[in-house]
Amino acid sequence: MKIQDNIADEFNEFSINYTNDMIGCVPYYLDLLSNITTGLPKQFNPKNILDLGCGNGNITTKLLPLFPKASYTLLDASQEMINLCKKQFQNNSIRYEVSYFKDFIFKEDHYDLIVAGFSLHHCEAKEKKELFQKIYKSLKKGGIFSYSDLMIHKGDSAHPKLLKKWKAYVHESFPDGEKWKWIMEHYDEFDFPDNLDDQIDWLKNNGFNKLRRISYEKFWTHLSMLKE
Ligand SMILES: C[S@@+](CC[C@H](N)C(=O)[O-])C[C@H]1O[C@@H](n2cnc3c(N)ncnc32)[C@H](O)[C@@H]1O
Repeated sequence: MKIQDNIADEFNEFSINYTNDMIGCVPYYLDLLSNITTGLPKQFNPKNILDLGCGNGNITTKLLPLFPKASYTLLDASQEMINLCKKQFQNNSIRYEVSYFKDFIFKEDHYDLIVAGFSLHHCEAKEKKELFQKIYKSLKKGGIFSYSDLMIHKGDSAHPKLLKKWKAYVHESFPDGEKWKWIMEHYDEFDFPDNLDDQIDWLKNNGFNKLRRISYEKFWTHLSMLKE
């Protein structure tokens, strides 16, 4: 794959073989997606759900059987990703938004559940902080923000070790090295992960309380945060 000029075009291209590529390129991808739904409290019954950076809909696919009556909003900058969602969720009532996070108007006090799978690392720290504030305001009291991502800053002393392990993982599925080369080009251009502790601080500064954290090899992490 060739690196594109912007994130929307990048994921338009990536959408073609998306799920298989993610499984082969992202360690713990399926576990971290499952964590987003399995950690929700037993009696939790969200009415309004927002999937931020929905991609081809892998998280919403897990949410729909659990909450069939909820209203869903699926947002992504990539038109092709949204097209894949529209194709597979034909019989469900879903609102679609082709938009960058920064341009989306978050309704205040509206959502019960906001999810994000591997989409927020595309935002630099400043945008993440702003987004966390919007997410907090946009949730109702008792609402949950549940997300999974790579959580380590590129300047962290453990980052080279992470890359080494990640490369070994990718080589198991794509031994010719081409995929890893593409991942690293994509990573340089479009990915801005931040450390877990920083993200927890930013979330707590907005008023969130931590519900649950699950990490694989320390940096591939799921977080659930509650607006009390
Ligand atoms: C790695 S994919 C994850 C998709 C899906 N959530 C999943 O877990 O498989 C990241 C998605 O976020 C979208 N995205 C990245 N940055 C974005 C931004 N700033 N605004 C809106 N969408 C964005 C991309 O287009 C892409 O579909």
